[in-house]
Amino acid sequence: MSKSKSRKNKTIELSEGDVVRLESRLISLDCQHDEEQLLNRTIHGDTLEVIDHLPFHFVDMLFVDPPYNMNKVFGKSSFKRMGSNDYENWIRSWLGKLVDRLKPNASVYVCGDWRSSSALYRALSDHFKIQNRITWEREKGRGAKANWKNSSEDIWFATVGDDYYFDVEAVKLKKKVIAPYRDDTGKPKDWSEEENGNFRLTHPSNLWTDITVPFWSMSENTGHPTQKPEKLVAKAILASSKEGDVILDPFLGSGTTSVVAKKLGRRFLGIEIDKYYACVAEKRLEMAEADKRIQGYADGVFWERNINPESNSFINHIDRQRLLL
Ligand SMILES: C[S@@+](CC[C@H](N)C(=O)[O-])C[C@H]1O[C@@H](n2cnc3c(N)ncnc32)[C@H](O)[C@@H]1O
Repeated sequence: MSKSKSRKNKTIELSEGDVVRLESRLISLDCQHDEEQLLNRTIHGDTLEVIDHLPFHFVDMLFVDPPYNMNKVFGKSSFKRMGSNDYENWIRSWLGKLVDRLKPNASVYVCGDWRSSSALYRALSDHFKIQNRITWEREKGRGAKANWKNSSEDIWFATVGDDYYFDVEAVKLKKKVIAPYRDDTGKPKDWSEEENGNFRLTHPSNLWTDITVPFWSMSENTGHPTQKPEKLVAKAILASSKEGDVILDPFLGSGTTSVVAKKLGRRFLGIEIDKYYACVAEKRLEMAEADKRIQGYADGVFWERNINPESNSFINHIDRQRLLL
């Protein structure tokens, strides 16, 4: 007996009719296209072949979330775990080709877990200036019997050169003030008193603990097995691109990068090998026409995980999940 979907379950699913309708929007790339024909589109194809047909020097920001070095099924295709040298060679097979597609002042973000992170670092170092390694707390994670539970992932931040764009003001984090110090005149020191509490705007660090992995009651959730949170991608895009810039994601999955780029007024191009997920990306892009909200980002700032900025009230994450059941 199939389980019926809860009323609160917002997971995006496509019917066969949706796929037929949405696949007509996908493009396949077997010949050279100029930049304008590619922008704001999803290419259905194998990135290793598609890259050769992309224009040169058209990308301002590259966001890459490749299959990690583990066995994983992605719709009709799958990724098989390799030896670490083979995985590094596989990374090099696409990374090297992408370099010429980037503008001289472009930024690059590449995601990985602890197992793939060192191979990513070595491959990236050959082509780019590594600027930082972001680690984000991945709340969802299976407990292990004889190991530490895997609850973090990395994102390497690199640039083509020394001259690059970075807007720190666009990615500040709004935190609840625990110790509300005042100056001699009784005025709040570095924080503000607001209707619903005391808050401080803080500089973003390379440790992100405010990220929630999409789950069934979030409207961005899809059935993709490794979907990235919109909030996470929004941080990278807001810090490292301007409105109108071009963002490329060569392993698009369910479309998160393109969707966030669209919501934030950037142009985009995504490549995905699985047709169903490429169509999910198109569906999400269609939904973004009407709803530009990004969960956890409101009023131009990022909010801590346990704060609901829409109601400006504090709701514990677990309580919120219970409320939504
Ligand atoms: C880690 S997932 C990306 C998830 C994505 N960031 C999201 O938020 O949904 C990697 C994706 O790359 C796709 N993929 C794997 N090999 C590919 C290739 N050679 N060309 C294009 N896409 C590929 C997989 O189908 C999968 O959807």
